[in-house]
Amino acid sequence: MTQFRLTQISDTHLARRLQLLTDNFDHVRAHIDATRPDIVVNSGDLSFDGPTSRKDLEFAKSLHEALPVPCRYLPGNHDLGDNPTAIGPVPPHPATEPLRQNFIDVIGEDRWRFEEAGWCFIGLNSLIMNTGIESEAEQFDWLASELGRVNGKPVALFIHKPLFLNTPGDPELESSAIRYVPQPRRQQLIEMLGKVNLRLIASGHVHQRRDFTFGHTRHVWAPSAAFKISEARQELIGIKECGLVEYRFASDSFEVRHVKAQGQIDIDLDDVLKASKS
Ligand SMILES: [Fe+2]
Ligand SMILES: [Fe+2]
Repeated sequence: MTQFRLTQISDTHLARRLQLLTDNFDHVRAHIDATRPDIVVNSGDLSFDGPTSRKDLEFAKSLHEALPVPCRYLPGNHDLGDNPTAIGPVPPHPATEPLRQNFIDVIGEDRWRFEEAGWCFIGLNSLIMNTGIESEAEQFDWLASELGRVNGKPVALFIHKPLFLNTPGDPELESSAIRYVPQPRRQQLIEMLGKVNLRLIASGHVHQRRDFTFGHTRHVWAPSAAFKISEARQELIGIKECGLVEYRFASDSFEVRHVKAQGQIDIDLDDVLKASKS
């Protein structure tokens, strides 16, 4: 295969009781059906509330299984709980080994590596980072082993949380620590990835679309496929809209297209929360 077409969706936050989010997913499904990429990657927050409702994860999985192309998955904080940080507040559902196992039982995987079109694609579970649970060290060992056999290929990393706002040296702030891969694991990850030809980091989580390059690595923040978050609740960093991202990888090059599916609506989190209580 000389070209490899990958569509990234993120933060679908699906639950059977939230029809307005399922409607947005249906528009995404129709777009995927019309464009038929080689693969779809959901970069996390598949479900609305996975840590307390396994049914939300099961519902999300059933909708992804109905997509007409293969799909790979990564967990988000709304699927298996969140990272502890050194300076931010304690998350309402800290990531644990049972919650990770629950995610794997329903979804089938929480990390992966594959190769296509001369590229190495790696997906990581960012929520277990900084937890100290057994699978955290195990994943770093696995990553070191996988990076050791990249053999000079360009690498594309998919991960729920972005690594940083603008630069690896950004200070960790109490107000935003939960938004990025937490220190000190962030630094460990940056050092490991510095040993390979890392060309892309594709993330989700922030529900804002963003695209910038630092060094020779392009950072693409996929917007949520489901809903945006108002400025009353979250600062504006990139573009607040719903949508998806399309990539086309060829030998040692790639293109990025920022897309919105036809019919996809910019639903606000406040309307989602109202619907979830009614
Ligand atoms: Fe999300
Ligand atoms: Fe998230």
